[in-house]
Amino acid sequence: MRIFLIGFMGSGKSHVGKRLAQLLGWDFVDLDDYLEQQEGRSINDIFAQDGADHFRKLEQHYLHKVITHPKIIVATGGGAPCFFDNLQWMNRHGLTIYLNTPISILTERLQYGMEHRPLLQGKTYWELKDFISDKLVERSNYYEGASVIYKINDAKQLVAKELYNNFAQIIGH
Ligand code: S3P
Repeated sequence: MRIFLIGFMGSGKSHVGKRLAQLLGWDFVDLDDYLEQQEGRSINDIFAQDGADHFRKLEQHYLHKVITHPKIIVATGGGAPCFFDNLQWMNRHGLTIYLNTPISILTERLQYGMEHRPLLQGKTYWELKDFISDKLVERSNYYEGASVIYKINDAKQLVAKELYNNFAQIIGH
């Protein structure tokens, strides 16, 4: 059993993933961090130097490499399930959980640190809001292909604990 957390940028995949991994005693990997470590440069640099298509190929490559063993939680990048057959691949190799976080929370979180995310660089607050709603329309079909759709209503929700309580049995705990 493995868990892949999917969802928009700022939906809480890394934060929830780390916490859930602690609760389960499993390993945690953030796919973006892993990719940056392996490539020796930031995602910003990869986008700027080699373009988005190259980044998507690397993302798929490292997605396949990251699952060295069961009992691992992978926080994927927001676009990962939306390219190639990544979503189907994740569904075949583990339990996919979509963190369905409302636009208001995403905007709140993403308005700071946009310079670290190539898709958000240089946007104003209102452009960010429009970008998130447009991209969510484009990506929802992919995200909703996850095995579990987990609705988040409140930024303070203890998502990892709730997931643990709900899925401990399925996950074999
Ligand atoms: C992206 C999300 C980012 C990162 C890259 C592209 C996207 O990951 O992979 O900047 O296309 O949504 P996070 O969701 O971890 O921010």
